[in-house]
Formats: sequence, C-alpha cells, structure tokens
Amino acid sequence: CLQNVDKLLLRGIGTNVVSAQAEATRKEETDEKVGHRSFYAVQVERQEQAERSVLISCPFRVNEKRFHKYLLNHGDINKFFFYESHSVYAVVEFASRESVTSLLEAVAIPIVSDESVVPFKSRLLSLRNLGAVESPNQPVKQCQPQTTIPINELIQRLSKEESIDQQINSLTEAYQLTEENSRLRFLVCSLLKDIAAAYFPECTIKPFGSSVNGFGKLGCDLDMFLDLGGISGYSVKRPKSGLSLEYGMKRANSERAVTQSILSVIGECVEQFGAGCVGVQKILNARCPLVRFAHQPSGFQCDLTSNNRVAMKSTELLYLYGELDPRVRYLVFTVRCWARTHGITSSIPGAWITNFSLTLMVLFFLQRRSPPIIPTLDYLRDLAGPADKNVIEGNDCTFVSDFSKIQVESNKETLEQLLFEFFEFYATFPFSRMSINIRKGKEQNKPERTPLHIQNPFETSLNVSKNVNSTQLERFVALCQESSWLFQQSETNTRRCNGTPIPWGLATLLLPSQVAGIKSRRKRKREPATERIKSLLESLKNKKLAT
Ligand code: CTP
Ligand code: MG
Repeated sequence: CLQNVDKLLLRGIGTNVVSAQAEATRKEETDEKVGHRSFYAVQVERQEQAERSVLISCPFRVNEKRFHKYLLNHGDINKFFFYESHSVYAVVEFASRESVTSLLEAVAIPIVSDESVVPFKSRLLSLRNLGAVESPNQPVKQCQPQTTIPINELIQRLSKEESIDQQINSLTEAYQLTEENSRLRFLVCSLLKDIAAAYFPECTIKPFGSSVNGFGKLGCDLDMFLDLGGISGYSVKRPKSGLSLEYGMKRANSERAVTQSILSVIGECVEQFGAGCVGVQKILNARCPLVRFAHQPSGFQCDLTSNNRVAMKSTELLYLYGELDPRVRYLVFTVRCWARTHGITSSIPGAWITNFSLTLMVLFFLQRRSPPIIPTLDYLRDLAGPADKNVIEGNDCTFVSDFSKIQVESNKETLEQLLFEFFEFYATFPFSRMSINIRKGKEQNKPERTPLHIQNPFETSLNVSKNVNSTQLERFVALCQESSWLFQQSETNTRRCNGTPIPWGLATLLLPSQVAGIKSRRKRKREPATERIKSLLESLKNKKLAT
C-alpha cells in the first residue's frame, strides 16, 4: 500500500518512469525497513565484514586500551570483541581491507625453540607482550559467551517467567546465535577460504545450515560450502565461429569424483597448513562428501563440503520461513531444545531424528494450521519471478526471494497454543501411511516403507529422515503424547516454594527426569497409559517437593 502511495507521489511530480531496477531496490529497502533482509543481502554483508577481520589470540591479562590503540595504528575499527575458548581471543573488524594488509605487514613469523613452523600466513594471529609487564590488577575482559547456558540454569530461568509465551521467548533468547557468534562463523569461513584460495584464488567459502538459517543454537556445528561456481571462465561468452581458447584441465568421470578430488586436496591443506585446525577427517564416500575438523580457536566443529548448492537453497528457504512470522523461529527453537533434552536428537550421527528433519516437521505443522501460518513451497515457487529461477542438477529449487510478494494469512494463535497443538499433531500423526511434505503443505502417501518419511524439499525423491528407525520414531511419538498431556496438567503460572520458583509450564517439559522415565518404561513391560501417567505425575510431584 505504501509502495502504491509512493508511486502516486512520483507521478504527481511528473515522473512516470520507475525503472525495474529502482523498483527492485525500493522493494529491498522496504523489506529491510520492516525488518526483512534477503538471505543473499545478509550473506554478502557478513562475508564482506569477515574479509576485513582478523582473529587474535591474546594473553589473559592484556591491557585492552593499549591493545586497541595499537590496532588503531593500522586504521579505524568497526567492531572489536573478546571471547574465551581455551584462551582469550579478540575478533577485530577493521573499516577497510587496507588496514588488514597494513597490520599483516607488521606481523612476524614465530621463532620456536624446539619446533619448526610451516610458514603459511593467515589472519589468525597471536599477541605477544614483550618487555612491559601488565599490572596484575588489569580488569578481566568482558568476554562474549559462545556457548549456551546449561539446561538446569535454563529451567530455572524459565520457571521465573510469567507465561508460557514468555518462557518460549526466554528460551529462544538464551539459545539463539549472538551477533558476535555469527560474525565469528563467517570469519572462520573466510580464514578457510584463504587456505582453499591457494589453489582456487576466486573461490568463496559460505556457511550454510543452522549457522545462517535463523535456527542455529550457540554451539551448533559450522557447515561450510566451498563454492567454485563463481569463478571466471564459466560465464565467458564463446564465439559462434572463429578462434577461441579453453583452459587445459584435468578430467574426471563425474562431478562427484571432481568434488572428492578437490576436497581431498583442500582437506590435506587444512590438516597440514591450517593453524588451529585439528582432527581432520576426510569423509569422501558419504552421499555428500565432506571434510570434518575442529577449529580450535573458535571451538567450532566444522563440516566442509563442495558442490552442495541444493543445501544452500534449503538453508535460504528455512531462513525465509523464519522471517515470515516470528512464531516460526520461537517454535523451532523450543521444539529443538525439547528434543535435545530428551535425547530425541543427538550430536552423534545415528538413527535419531536430526534437527533438520525436526525443523521440517515444525514447518509442516505450521502449514497445517487453520488458517496456515506459513505458505507451502509450491506457493512460494509460483510467486517466483524470472530472476528467482534456479534448477540445480535437474532439481527445481525455484522460489520467490521478494518477501513483499508473499501474502501471509492472519492466524492469531499464541505460542502456547501452538506448542501444545504441535505435540497433539504429532502424537496422532499417521506416520505409518503418510509422508511429511512441505512442498504441498499436506501429507502424502508414503512412497517407501521407512518408519519416518519427510520429503526433501528440493531433491524430492529423497527422504530427509531415512536414517530414523522405528524405535526412535516411537520415542518421539511417546514424548509428544506425554508432553501434550503434561501441558494440560501444568500450572498456568509461576509458583514459588520458599521464594524459589518451582518448574512449571515449558520448564516442566524440559525436566531431564522425564527422559529416564520414558527409557526405563520402554525396558519394562508396557503399563496401561493411566498407570504411566500416574507414575509420571508422582515423579513430578516429588520433584516439586524436592525443590
Ligand atoms: N541438509 C539437507 N538434507 C539432509 C541433511 C541436511 O539438505 N538430509 C542440508 C540442510 O540445509 C541443513 C544443512 O544441510 O540445514 C546442514 O545439515 P545439518 O548440519 O545436519 O543440520 P542443521 O540445520 O545445520 O542443524 P544442526 O544445528 O543440527 O547442525
Ligand atoms: Mg549444521
């Protein structure tokens, strides 16, 4: 509506021509004003910030002011923060790349007495304090947290909240990635890019998955994508006739073989030359070949892949859904946390439901509300403009990128209602017959006999949850049943015992003892539901008395 007023105003002053370009820019600006920034815009900005940044390991008691002044000799600083991981590190983002160049000119190669160093230079530096002794009274630096609070602390925090909606808010606040953590993720990608650029100078390394889809929790892994699609030469116009030149290049049997060969070499470089990169594993025979390692200075567990454009599109799709309605992110965070607490998801690969599957389940549930909270993927595809068209290896990954084209229906359900309804929905979902499908926004007949079938949104012949066995699915369903029941029984507001808040609402659903209950019950013969619920109530009562 505002845009139409703008158009009329423009006409009023005699300007009839509004170029498509200007229109597009204005739409982007409007989206940004209402808080929506396109996935692409956020990525580009963060990557650019990372290129102007350095990571410096610091002595614990460094004088912050002196350090800051020292850095300012090389140029203006946009962002400067400390965090702790093994030792203290500073992330320094300069205003210009020239400052980084200037700083690096003054960096020495270390001389170590008993060892030798590989002189591979990077933007991971180490601050030495020669000569001057820092006062032992140096204030301890304010370090930005890079991990989540322990579950017990979270439960206590939630117990103090006044409503379940506030509890869900509070959980999300405590768990979501911070601005600083997000910057650090892009910086690690940028440091890795410098290694890969030794072979492929025009490459980029982009984060994908939960680091950037809006659903990442502090401490989640860092999925990276080595992108060679943007290197010059792919888009060179070939003349229809006459002379032209092509690069002489090594050939391989398949794209997969090329990916394996590139990752094998880059993996070797990361292992041999990458400062702070440890435990490098090349997992090249996986469906999606990858190099896994730990980046010690950041504390991130990293998965480096290549030729993984579809995953990048699913990341963008999840980001878009998360931006369409704030309830999406709140609910995903809550369900992910609930699932992790009860061992439904795990950090170890296996027959567990993954966070990605769980997120698709939440999205599907929100599409099934009446009226729906988010639209189907087919609807988003139908809204796409010519610039959005994207087919990757035969998979149609097209969907609209312009938020302002998307009509969202007016659903006023509260987070509390939605969380309860989520448990109810999956407590009775016909998993044995039906497949979860966010493209259609409606369950479909299952095309195969796996216990849980969630269609991959873009590679539609694939099942995202193929790994899940029936035991894990049963545990999920049992927990949904119990949680929906507990939800109904729970207190509706804060209660205190000698001034200490008693777990209630969402906090009750996260109590770890519930997991043990379910596990031990599975080993015993199944009791009638009423008995199980009775014993669950007893254990809850005891817990409350104990606190
Ligand atoms: N992915 C996919 N198909 C799968 C598994 C993963 O397309 N079967 C893509 C998704 O885009 C996913 C990304 O790869 O977001 C990263 O996968 P993973 O690390 O397993 O999930 P995350 O969403 O990053 O969640 P987590 O916080 O558990 O790492
Ligand atoms: Mg991940």
